[in-house]
Amino acid sequence: MNYLDALNWRYSVKKFDGNKIPSAKLTSILEAGRLSVSSLGLQPYHLLVVENDETIQKLIPAFYNPSQISTCSHLIALVSKTNINKEYVDNYFSHIINERGVTLEQLSAFRNNINMLLETQTQKELESWSEKQSYIVLGSLIMAAAQENIDTCPMEGFKSEILEDVLKIDKENEKIAVVLALGYRAEDDNFQNFKKVRKPADKFIKFL
Ligand SMILES: Cc1cc2nc3c(=O)[nH]c(=O)nc-3n(C[C@H](O)[C@H](O)[C@H](O)COP(=O)(O)O)c2cc1C
Repeated sequence: MNYLDALNWRYSVKKFDGNKIPSAKLTSILEAGRLSVSSLGLQPYHLLVVENDETIQKLIPAFYNPSQISTCSHLIALVSKTNINKEYVDNYFSHIINERGVTLEQLSAFRNNINMLLETQTQKELESWSEKQSYIVLGSLIMAAAQENIDTCPMEGFKSEILEDVLKIDKENEKIAVVLALGYRAEDDNFQNFKKVRKPADKFIKFL
């Protein structure tokens, strides 16, 4: 399916049919998330993929509208870092050095810029910045899934405490920004029949 066909085909599913998605498709969707862009390349997030049905059932009380959760194949929690410290940046630079065969000296200007930027941000600003990066991954996952004919529903409507307890999130250093349920749309999910509602292009785009 091409990009625009996939975007028109997809919708936020309210009820899945309960079937499991093939692992090869899941792998390529997750790879799209891994390859997602992030500011400064810092990737201040990771994914938790919940595929065990018992664990998924335990998550149901965390959602205000859980029909997607009780019927999905997999649930991906996008976990964003709330603590982006010097150690994290140092590890990032070690990784670049290993992957690209460059020296720390060659990267020193970039590294100083990042450290300076982090120093001038409040904790709240950093958390918000980190969460924004997770949402870019969310978009990549949704798009990749649609191109594989896999349905999704992004969800923010959850009680963080329950979700973070069940998924054993390290609350001192990270939080769940958003989750994505995946599966196949149920035949009786009425939302698939609704027309997509989007701003018309002339209200959305201005050419200067
Ligand atoms: C970040 C984000 C959070 C969302 N949270 C929920 C949610 O908690 N529950 C839900 O049913 N839909 C949720 N949605 C789906 C939106 O309501 C939906 O994308 C929007 O209405 C457009 O419809 P469509 O995705 O079907 O085209 C969320 C979407 C995004 C992008």
